[in-house]
Amino acid sequence: MNLFEQTFMDFLLEHQEKHGRTYHFLILMNSILNAAKRIQHYYLTGALKGYLGLTGQVNVQGENCLRLDELANEVVKHYILRSGRVIQAVSEEEKDIIKMNPEGRYFVYYDPLDGSSNIPHNLPVGFLFGIAKRNLEGPEDFHLRAGKEFIAAGMFVIPTGTFTIALREAGCWRFHIDEMMNYVKPTRINLPQDRSTWELSFNVAHRDYYRREISDWLLKNEKKYQFRYLGALAADFHRLLTNGGLFLYPAIINHPDSKKNYPQGKLRLMYEAAVVSFMCQEAGGSAINEERKPILDLIPTHHHQRTTLFLGSKELVEEIALVL
Ligand code: AHG
Ligand code: MN
Ligand code: MN
Repeated sequence: MNLFEQTFMDFLLEHQEKHGRTYHFLILMNSILNAAKRIQHYYLTGALKGYLGLTGQVNVQGENCLRLDELANEVVKHYILRSGRVIQAVSEEEKDIIKMNPEGRYFVYYDPLDGSSNIPHNLPVGFLFGIAKRNLEGPEDFHLRAGKEFIAAGMFVIPTGTFTIALREAGCWRFHIDEMMNYVKPTRINLPQDRSTWELSFNVAHRDYYRREISDWLLKNEKKYQFRYLGALAADFHRLLTNGGLFLYPAIINHPDSKKNYPQGKLRLMYEAAVVSFMCQEAGGSAINEERKPILDLIPTHHHQRTTLFLGSKELVEEIALVL
């Protein structure tokens, strides 16, 4: 056994030095890891201490408590602000763009708690983030970055304790939390070529409300693969990265209850779809929307914009693209 497992910070230090980079990114990543560990702690202790209540509820100590997704948002905001390295952030939980340090260097787009319907069951949730860099050559124009401009994107699966991060042109890597709450033991993730482990992942309840071509494609192809769906993008994508296959969240257009239609798709581009698509690309996969455009090429017009998503093994994304 290796007495001293390589930690994420060791790994990143080596990466930054190898590429002659500054340490600013390490400082930012340290704040993101601190936030993830704090969310992990709240999740693990939440049920006992009453943190998992709804907004406005009072916990067993008689204190007002936040929903875990709001609590997670406060935690991430606190730590990344303190890093001093963030110019602006976008959070799923905040209507407006969060202005931080005008002298900062990075933009952070995050979903502090993904898959919140799993919380009451103590099933996995995620914390997703994408990072882009300010324009260092000239004046910063504050445009919303497309996924292809990310320098890194990652996700923590909570409380399982895995952390997966993709660094631009440097691969997708997975770490595991140890007894000292360090993320250790990097392993490089590449989507498997062998179809035998591939899985399909989508909300079956919606299958009749997708565009006809998509429902037909599913009917024709689904028996070739296993089916898995946890209802948390981070957790579903976590499986897919190891087993390969296809995750899809198409537009919902034919729901009998029109309020349940999502003509643009449900997932958010900047802090959900672009994050997993960036990771998927670094693991050898790809991702497109229902118009067959690469997710990473989409330039957001609004920071909370939604998108459709077809994500996973390249060949399977190409196969479904033929009917889109
Ligand atoms: P969030 O909890 O951040 O709002 O995200 C939930 C998202 C995503 O994680 C998941 O893949 C999807 O919603 C599940 O949606 P359905 O319940 O419609 O399947
Ligand atoms: Mn989410
Ligand atoms: Mn969320």
